[in-house]
Amino acid sequence: MILVTGGTGLVGRYLVRALVEKGHKVRCLVRSPKNGKELLPSGVELVRGDINDSAAVSAACKGADKIFHLVAVIREQGQSTFEHVNVEGTLNLVIAAGQAGVKHFIHMSAIGACDNPKYKYVYSKWRGEEAVRQSGLCWTIVRSSIIYGDGFNFFDRMMQSFKYVPGPVVPVPGKGATLFQPIAVEDIVRCLCLIGENGNMSGQLIELGGPEHLSYSQMLDRLMERLGEKRYKIYVPMFLMRLIVPLMGSILPDPPVTPVELKQMEVPNITDIDAVEKIFGFKPRALRNGLKYLPAGKKS
Ligand SMILES: NC(=O)c1ccc[n+]([C@@H]2O[C@H](COP(=O)([O-])OP(=O)(O)OC[C@H]3O[C@@H](n4cnc5c(N)ncnc54)[C@H](OP(=O)(O)O)[C@@H]3O)[C@@H](O)[C@H]2O)c1
Repeated sequence: MILVTGGTGLVGRYLVRALVEKGHKVRCLVRSPKNGKELLPSGVELVRGDINDSAAVSAACKGADKIFHLVAVIREQGQSTFEHVNVEGTLNLVIAAGQAGVKHFIHMSAIGACDNPKYKYVYSKWRGEEAVRQSGLCWTIVRSSIIYGDGFNFFDRMMQSFKYVPGPVVPVPGKGATLFQPIAVEDIVRCLCLIGENGNMSGQLIELGGPEHLSYSQMLDRLMERLGEKRYKIYVPMFLMRLIVPLMGSILPDPPVTPVELKQMEVPNITDIDAVEKIFGFKPRALRNGLKYLPAGKKS
């Protein structure tokens, strides 16, 4: 039995489908069984509960050999804080996993995870990793660059800025030079499945990304090219962005960028360009190909 937490999320939905197709028995911890039924293949066992609910998490771990732990808060909202979910939730799960005798704990983290509270999200991811490393379990930690595909992701945030800023312009934070290494959700899931199948990867921290290092500005170009969106990029100096972004947060219910995300753009979000090929022996798709899940726009 494989337990997946965060099965209703972007990565989780693809991972659960892939595991079921490979013939595994899969259980998911879900906050809403209704969403779980709608989003996940039939035959997946659903355990209702929050990652911070010890009784639900223990029930979910019972009889599981492997766990893929994907639950995380990427943007804080109300009680769903980085500390509560990414740190305390992970700790809650590793304790239950230890008690249930889980043999392999595969933990999804993020590139940039570091012991620096200035970068709030990646700091919480690092502390979640620490809970896993100190758990006494057999673990593998996967740090990924941004993941995209059919589900809400980084490119949807970019598209939000098309919605909020009327054409013919689109704002770019600073020089738009921060580097990313976007990886398609299908490719990251292929790596996760291979880790699950290969018992020799325990104790390893693996950093993964797609086959290109692309700046924010280049990724925006790729997105506009796919959508047939024609806009002039306006480079907004960082000191102005630091003033505008908190204001946007106080006006818009779901702004395209938050102060935490803006701060994170100080740091490149990349690893080895051939990490996937070196470790897993296949070439992940380039962004132009990966964005084909989006409807193609009109060609000029
Ligand atoms: N997406 C990226 O670009 C990216 C990049 C690097 C690393 N990662 C990491 O990859 C993992 C998966 O990311 P994702 O993009 O698939 O995330 P996502 O789409 O935001 O999904 C998050 C999942 O966590 C669940 N969840 C959130 N809070 C919970 C709680 N308190 N209790 C139980 N479940 C809870 C959500 O359930 P509901 O359906 O109930 O909301 C959802 O299933 C995360 O660990 C993330 O940090 C993601």
